[in-house]
Amino acid sequence: MCGIVGYIGTDNNAKEVIIEGLKRLEYRGYDSAGIALHKGSVIETRKHVGEISNLEKIIGDKDFESTLGIGHTRWATHGAPSDVNSHPHSNMDNTVTVVHNGIIENYVELREWLTSEYGIKFKSDTDTEVIAHLIGIYYDGDLHKAVNRAVEDMRGAYAIGVIAADEPDKMVAVRKDAPLVAGIGEGCNFIASDIPALLKYVRKIYLIENNETVVLTKDKITIYDEKQKVVKREVFHVTWDADAAEKGGYDHFMMKEIHEQPHGLSETLNRRLNDDNTIKLDGISMTKEDIEGFNKVYIVACGTAYHAGLVGKAAIEKMAKIPVEVDIASEFRYRDPFVDDKTLFIAISQSGETLDTLAALREAKKKGARIFSVVNVVGSSIARESDDVFYTWAGPEIAVASTKAYTTQLMCMYLIALYMGHTKGVIDKEYYDMFIGELKAIPDKLQLILDKQDEIEAIAKKYKRKDDVFYIGRGVDSGVSYEGSLKLKEISYINSFAIAAGELKHGTIALIEDGTLVFALATQNFLFEKMISNIQEIKARGANVIGIAKEGNTDIETQSSEVIYIPDCIDEVTPLLSVVPLQIYAYYVAKFRGCNIDKPKNLAKSVTVE
Ligand code: AGP
Repeated sequence: MCGIVGYIGTDNNAKEVIIEGLKRLEYRGYDSAGIALHKGSVIETRKHVGEISNLEKIIGDKDFESTLGIGHTRWATHGAPSDVNSHPHSNMDNTVTVVHNGIIENYVELREWLTSEYGIKFKSDTDTEVIAHLIGIYYDGDLHKAVNRAVEDMRGAYAIGVIAADEPDKMVAVRKDAPLVAGIGEGCNFIASDIPALLKYVRKIYLIENNETVVLTKDKITIYDEKQKVVKREVFHVTWDADAAEKGGYDHFMMKEIHEQPHGLSETLNRRLNDDNTIKLDGISMTKEDIEGFNKVYIVACGTAYHAGLVGKAAIEKMAKIPVEVDIASEFRYRDPFVDDKTLFIAISQSGETLDTLAALREAKKKGARIFSVVNVVGSSIARESDDVFYTWAGPEIAVASTKAYTTQLMCMYLIALYMGHTKGVIDKEYYDMFIGELKAIPDKLQLILDKQDEIEAIAKKYKRKDDVFYIGRGVDSGVSYEGSLKLKEISYINSFAIAAGELKHGTIALIEDGTLVFALATQNFLFEKMISNIQEIKARGANVIGIAKEGNTDIETQSSEVIYIPDCIDEVTPLLSVVPLQIYAYYVAKFRGCNIDKPKNLAKSVTVE
């Protein structure tokens, strides 16, 4: 977690560049922010708990300017959010200053050693502070050398940026299992945790690999590998627009991103379709023999991406007839799963940086699986470590609550399932063509749901005070229920719970009482009657039911307080539509309750810690 930015140049604008970059990285955490500038022969640091706007209030003065600096936005891991625990951190005589994203696993051991051997007095509770002291004790006038020596002592995952008081013309950065890029300017250079932080200034980027060290001066960026050999890295040219990351007239990124779904879905689909509707794999080679050779598929992900995996499982099992297990990445990596060279491992991740997913991927790779990923961020770690990458074309997703990444992940899963099933010969051309037709119709149908935004807002207003909300469904509707419930709890802090509708009677129904709010997803034609029975059971116990059904299935009205209809489509693809009212409902409830929608408490967009 956390975001880091660094700048070295000739103009005195390090402060502006760093603040601008940090604002683009607030999705990585916003518990506190700080900035350190090189000023003559000293380093001056200012930091403040809370969002970057708090920091801005204490750095406005003309005196606080420089050509070299580093900055940080924090998601607290070690030590509560506070001014003193905010980054940057320095060694005792303030000659070395560090920003850090990640975790130093052996920090307790290092802290004890630094205290007993060197008498170091720690100011903060953070793991990061040990890095500053370590570099400080190894420093003899060469920052690059001192950083490399310090890294030898450190265990864990980190991206760090470092400056030294005695070296006004240098910045050093290191990456191990946490994202880091370097931006190539003219007469200036940059580091950051992610590309959007730098897009206002540069479009030429070096993607820094694991265990690499970067030494930056204003005119040069030198990348070194683990053995300190200079690495020749190709320049990555960013073609997407920085404006895509702006709010574009919406009050919140989340609502903007909800509305971007028709476009994101069209892009994701069309970029993968040839004129004759065959699926374009673009560099991915997956033959009939490969597919027939897989005896199992593992889909591994976290949070919303995991929920996309649940729908992906149904699609692959139905169309490709291969058994699929869906696993939460943090569980998969520690349970010695049955994976071998006949396993297809599919990682799903918006950011491509989620540490649990990345670690699970590495585990599966070690065991010989073929690694396939569905990722939104181009050039991210998961994308780079996969054998094959199927990109979602959602565009940058800024709001912590994932919306357009989820629906585009679903689109990818349908395409992968269709490709596998068709290539393997399980599904015929007629079914294939019908399915592609259904997918092509989705963006327009989704727009019809967006057009009902006011109707959903009114429902949210009516039920905004409900403090316990249930989500139920059968088949793929149960997967969407999990996603709807997660959306509500993460941005409105309401206690919500999702469960397969048929499972309710095995215990959870005990919680249903007069006035309990239940979202009942009943979009599956072949399960419709069963769902109506489940709805009757909860209605009989006094629940307020909000039904989600396909247009035409009006029987649900007699059992529900409200019904939100989605346009008709085949049962398989309803998740692409049924999730949308749930996203909008969560958004409005959070808004009515005065919550911080784009940056909910305790969360960060990219979870790069265990
Ligand atoms: C979704 O709204 C979340 N904020 C979260 O569950 C997210 O989907 C999860 O952390 C996985 O992230 P990733 O897709 O970037 O790997």
